[in-house]
Amino acid sequence: MLELPILIIGGTGKTGGRVNARLRARGIATRPVSRSTPTVFDWTQQETWRAALDGVSQAYVTYQPDLAVEGAAEAIAELSGLARDKGLERIVLLSGRGEPGAQAAEAALCASGVGWTIVRASWFNQNFSEGYLIDGVLAGEIALPAGAVVEPFVDADDIADVAAAALMDERHADKVYEVTGPHALTFAEAVAEIANATGRPIRYTQITPDAFAAGMHQAGVPEDLIALLNELFTVVLDGRNSEAANGVEQALGRPARSFSDYARATAAGGTWGA
Ligand SMILES: NC(=O)c1ccc[n+]([C@@H]2O[C@H](COP(=O)([O-])OP(=O)(O)OC[C@H]3O[C@@H](n4cnc5c(N)ncnc54)[C@H](OP(=O)(O)O)[C@@H]3O)[C@@H](O)[C@H]2O)c1
Repeated sequence: MLELPILIIGGTGKTGGRVNARLRARGIATRPVSRSTPTVFDWTQQETWRAALDGVSQAYVTYQPDLAVEGAAEAIAELSGLARDKGLERIVLLSGRGEPGAQAAEAALCASGVGWTIVRASWFNQNFSEGYLIDGVLAGEIALPAGAVVEPFVDADDIADVAAAALMDERHADKVYEVTGPHALTFAEAVAEIANATGRPIRYTQITPDAFAAGMHQAGVPEDLIALLNELFTVVLDGRNSEAANGVEQALGRPARSFSDYARATAAGGTWGA
């Protein structure tokens, strides 16, 4: 009998794309979905969810835009219930550290009756190279409302390694892996590491939340995304997540990648210009 594929929600995203590549490399069938795939999956269109969940064994789930937004826990509860009814073995959920909304979503998954693994991540390194901070790196200045608080940035490759391992081995069932990098850095220190790796001057400027919101407004960023980012910087980045955690080591038996290694490899790959 043919193996059922593994569903990957957000299959072209920073972590979904990597999880997909890892499973495919192991010869495992996958169904990566998003708003632009042949089988459409849209978090805002619940009628698209059933077809995506048809005939799959498990799912890797990344929620959009963020589990911190209103309605996220309800959406995860609904999706998990559907997955349970369709006989999925397990959902591996990408979650965020220290976000009350994310913790409510985790609780909804755990209560749903479908098997679960939670990968609870700190801020991604790749926000600087594949996310909303890349423009600042390329322009030579990153301006954010983040001061002396340190964050143990985690590498999306580590997240994907943990998620793929969880999907391939049921020993990871019922586990919460709190995944971070090995060291915590301020945003200024992270930017300095990138400047060092690229050999170009890149400045970090601390600005007020109001100035941050005004700048994004001017750049045409949607208001709900501005509110979300401001909440992440002002509420979640208050020191509650400053300690590094050992979820990568627990799940994989090896240490997490460092921010310096990420910065060096990304600079060498040309993402931040020659
Ligand atoms: N970035 C961080 O530092 C951080 C830290 C902790 C947790 N997280 C969590 O990570 C999750 C995001 O994961 P990621 O960074 O791997 O993904 P990402 O790079 O933000 O992913 C974008 C993916 O989501 C799809 N997508 C966008 N809107 C969608 C929608 N309405 N319905 C269905 N698919 C949609 C995109 O494809 P289409 O455009 O084709 O739809 C693409 O496949 C969020 O839940 C966030 O809370 C992020």
